[in-house]
Amino acid sequence: MKITVVGAGNVGATVAQQLAYYELAREVVLVDIAEGIPQGKGLDLLEAMPVLGSDTYVHGTNSYEPTASSDIVIITAGLARKPGMSRDDLLAANAKIVASCAQQAVAHSPNAIFIIVSNPLDVMTYLTLRVTKLPRHRVIGMAGVLDTARYRAFIAMELGCSVEDIQALLLGGHGDSMVPLVRYTTVAGIPLSQLLPNDRIEAIVQRTKDGGIEIVNYLKTGSAYYAPAASTVEMVESIVKNKRRILPCSALCDGEYGLRDVCIGVPVKLGARGIEQILQIELTDHERALLEQSAADVSKNIAKLVELGY
Ligand code: 2OP
Repeated sequence: MKITVVGAGNVGATVAQQLAYYELAREVVLVDIAEGIPQGKGLDLLEAMPVLGSDTYVHGTNSYEPTASSDIVIITAGLARKPGMSRDDLLAANAKIVASCAQQAVAHSPNAIFIIVSNPLDVMTYLTLRVTKLPRHRVIGMAGVLDTARYRAFIAMELGCSVEDIQALLLGGHGDSMVPLVRYTTVAGIPLSQLLPNDRIEAIVQRTKDGGIEIVNYLKTGSAYYAPAASTVEMVESIVKNKRRILPCSALCDGEYGLRDVCIGVPVKLGARGIEQILQIELTDHERALLEQSAADVSKNIAKLVELGY
């Protein structure tokens, strides 16, 4: 396994560190345009490996030649939000960065599976599909795992129980209109609605939706990276080990949930081929309406890509 991580910022470097720590690849290549940064972080990570007992070879570069024949490419490059910004405010700037990174990466690794982490997430996933012309099972956006991780963390805090016992599902875009599905949230098999009153559940759902900006408002100069990196690595593990985990990820819908030509968070089975299946679950009219609204929000931003010439 050879994995390329594009973007050596906080998210990219943390992803590279965890991939190496869990020895999920024989080689991890960190790419960034900033001179010296990927090389320095790559070497620092390499020097940590004897202590961690990992034989992953980590290195950094400013060019794409050393990334050739990667099995997985993870795109984290782009600007992060500052307080007062929405993810959508990053669209024009990050479209340019992500399109360029994806084109260069796919030219050297035409058989790779791409995982997109840059924001606005669903739009950048769609853009990557468009510029790489890869089949939809090989371009996957990371967002639902992060959003459900936040949701699960808040539920565990509220109940004073282990995070391991919280199972949850969330649909929709990685934005204000994400759709946490309370009906599909269980604690050791017990429906959440039996354990918490509605007003507490609603507060947790709202905090989950605001999870990204809560961190931005603390950090001021950037956005979250530990939980986004851990979520990305969970997806990589499912692909590398062909575990076929069922995880909420951004995928191009082609009729699923009645949606077309939009990348949006849906439950997918992740295995060695990438997206092995998009699972279609039953939704109430209300849940379906929320998903459709979220898809409409993402589609509006996808239309902006066309205006930008993509
Ligand atoms: C987040 O939700 C950065 O979108 C990312 O933290």
